[in-house]
Amino acid sequence: DKPVSLGCFKDDKTLRILSGYYHVFKGNNSPERCAFLCLQSGYLYAGTEYSVECFCGMEKPSQLKRLPDSSCNMKCSGNPKYSCGGYLTINIFWTGIQRFKAQEARNTSIDIENEKPARIAYLLTVNGRASRQVKRLISILYHPSHLFYIHVDARQDYLYRDMLEVEKSCKSNNIKVARGENLRHASIWGGASLLTTLLKSAQQMLTHHHHWDFLVNLSESDFPIKNNAQLTQFLSLNKGMNFVKSHGREVQRFITKQGLDKTFVECETRMWRTGDRKLPDGIQIDGGSDWVALSREFVEYVANPIPDALVTDLLKVFKYTLLPAESFFHTVLRNSRFCNTYIDNNLHVTNWKRKLGCKCQYKAVVDWCGCSPNDFKLEDFSRIRNTVDRNLFFARKFESVIDQRIIDRVEEWLYPEKLNKTVSAKGYDAYWQSLYHTADLSPLTDDAQLTVSNSLARLIFRKLNIDSKDVHLLETTAYFKQNQFVGILILAEAIIQQKSIQQEYMKQVESLIYLRHNFSTSREWLGKVQSLSVNTDYDQKEKTFRNLMGSIGPYSHPVLSYEFDTGITTPQNLSILWVDPYGQLADVNYVQLEEMTLTGYVKPQFNEHLVVGTWHLLLVADSLLVAKMNFLVTPLGYWKNKKMDAAKAKEVNNASGDNYHITEEMNTKWSHLLSSINFHERTIDITRDDIKINSNLDQWIDKLVHEHYKIDKICNADDTILNLQNCINTYWSSLSPDSKADINNLC
Ligand code: UDX
Repeated sequence: DKPVSLGCFKDDKTLRILSGYYHVFKGNNSPERCAFLCLQSGYLYAGTEYSVECFCGMEKPSQLKRLPDSSCNMKCSGNPKYSCGGYLTINIFWTGIQRFKAQEARNTSIDIENEKPARIAYLLTVNGRASRQVKRLISILYHPSHLFYIHVDARQDYLYRDMLEVEKSCKSNNIKVARGENLRHASIWGGASLLTTLLKSAQQMLTHHHHWDFLVNLSESDFPIKNNAQLTQFLSLNKGMNFVKSHGREVQRFITKQGLDKTFVECETRMWRTGDRKLPDGIQIDGGSDWVALSREFVEYVANPIPDALVTDLLKVFKYTLLPAESFFHTVLRNSRFCNTYIDNNLHVTNWKRKLGCKCQYKAVVDWCGCSPNDFKLEDFSRIRNTVDRNLFFARKFESVIDQRIIDRVEEWLYPEKLNKTVSAKGYDAYWQSLYHTADLSPLTDDAQLTVSNSLARLIFRKLNIDSKDVHLLETTAYFKQNQFVGILILAEAIIQQKSIQQEYMKQVESLIYLRHNFSTSREWLGKVQSLSVNTDYDQKEKTFRNLMGSIGPYSHPVLSYEFDTGITTPQNLSILWVDPYGQLADVNYVQLEEMTLTGYVKPQFNEHLVVGTWHLLLVADSLLVAKMNFLVTPLGYWKNKKMDAAKAKEVNNASGDNYHITEEMNTKWSHLLSSINFHERTIDITRDDIKINSNLDQWIDKLVHEHYKIDKICNADDTILNLQNCINTYWSSLSPDSKADINNLC
């Protein structure tokens, strides 16, 4: 059998056949040969009407004998009826074409009672550290007849370990976690690896003994907006159909916007744009969202380990495509025999706020300006509730660290019967998100965060008057209550020498720590500044800092975010002075506050290497100092997560800060103000500490951390006796109950 190409036609009024088979038979009177062509109608677009004429014989094509249509359409199996030598000519007459038409989903059936309930295989592609939210998601979706296959980004140790625990706790064997190098991928945003992840995962899901009808992919930030019974019923009515959302614009515009006419190569967890390319002729390119619900039959076809010609060739194209998962399934559907199972709906409501979500945040990862949807907040609930009569079953995105109330609200709405039990449970209005775990090797933790966490661990034991040289940081967690970030939890252990009995023992405690907000305003501006904070990892989309620890190191890029009261007289010119620990002016930003710009952020222009110590920020309006605040640039105790040696510590923690982009004129302008503030004491401190770098780095760090963080509460994390409350009985400890994320009795 030889595949034969019958030519490609560009526009969608004409047709192409992706493959047929050209059989060559040796006749008795060799070297005569006979050719026989089988058309596989499945490769024609849906709705295509065609007739075929075949000619076969020894003569020249013009004199060939016409064969009956049926022979031309014969399947490739079986003996050919016509054996001939010489020439074969096939003319295909397109007698008509219907344009591609997406199908409508079914919402009713006269035989609804007899429909076998659809079984769903959820493919959860998860990333990050929101482990409790993922457990909550699994918990709300869980049903014994569904399968859960969890793929954790290969770089995320913490989430992976936690998901293995979930798998272990489920005795019914229908929660599976992807393991091993072949099945776990570093699925970067928009990367080709995300498609590989989906296809490899789908193959695994097909081999699972648990039968399923639909594959639905979800991420850590999806949440259902209809209950399980509603989704199951809907999918039962639509077995065999495929749900994908199309872009809904002009195709060429979509191709250009999406970068489909560019070649991208994934290498070292990054997509590199290498040049322009021409898309294959005759293929209907389609795409939109990468959240899909696919029928088992289509998954068997598209994820087949030995794919047919169409899938093989499209896989080649999509291996070099940005955001491949957003177009691959659509394109295969449109060009394959499954084209009449296409339903233009991904079952999702997506919270697009393009002004915020299209700020080119992925350029560093994918060489392209990608967009992301926003997180839903409580005020969006009516939008979600309004989808009640539509075939929409999931929404994205949700993040407890941004707004947990909306997740609670949706869950209470979907399962009112659970309301009394869950809402009154301890810890219901709290959320914990891990920032660090001692077993993590990947990804590397931010060294400033690790330095501050380790310092806090030492300070906790010191506060307990426990003198130990052997203190270990176990976990750092962000703690939220009533939708507000409260503080940081440090879980640590120390080896304690008990001199009286000459024995050592281990003690574990957890502590709640607040970040001190060293900020004050002048009397005139009292109440006019709603918030002022300097931190790193500013998320422009959610307008918040992602660095919950608030740790800034010498190589960080600090940003100021501000929020002023609407009562402020506008327009108002504000100068923002960044002053280093030596009292030197490092940068000045100017902001004009208007009615519409009372909230915003500014990025100062500093050198790469910041002076360590306590920095000062001065806000000046009409030449008057109206607010000031301090922030810490911590000396680092760790480099690439390893304790630093003295030479490295000196290099890292000794920036001089003598080449700021400050003109003489600026210095003169602000010298009066700067000299009126006493930075002197700090300067002496710094110089003295500088000498300490080699010998007493930890002490220096601890002193500064103590000034900027406050240890509030401490609890007993193990069985050893200490006059402290047990962590499990507190309302704040990461060890206290959290029924929302408790999946122990799930299956
Ligand atoms: C979504 C769509 O996925 C994207 O196609 C569309 O263009 C924008 O909206 P976004 O919400 O920005 O993207 O992405 P996110 O949900 O953060 O990530 C998409 C998927 O990739 C998730 O399953 C996520 O877990 C996974 N991912 C992301 C990783 O596995 N590793 C990463 O480093 C980033």
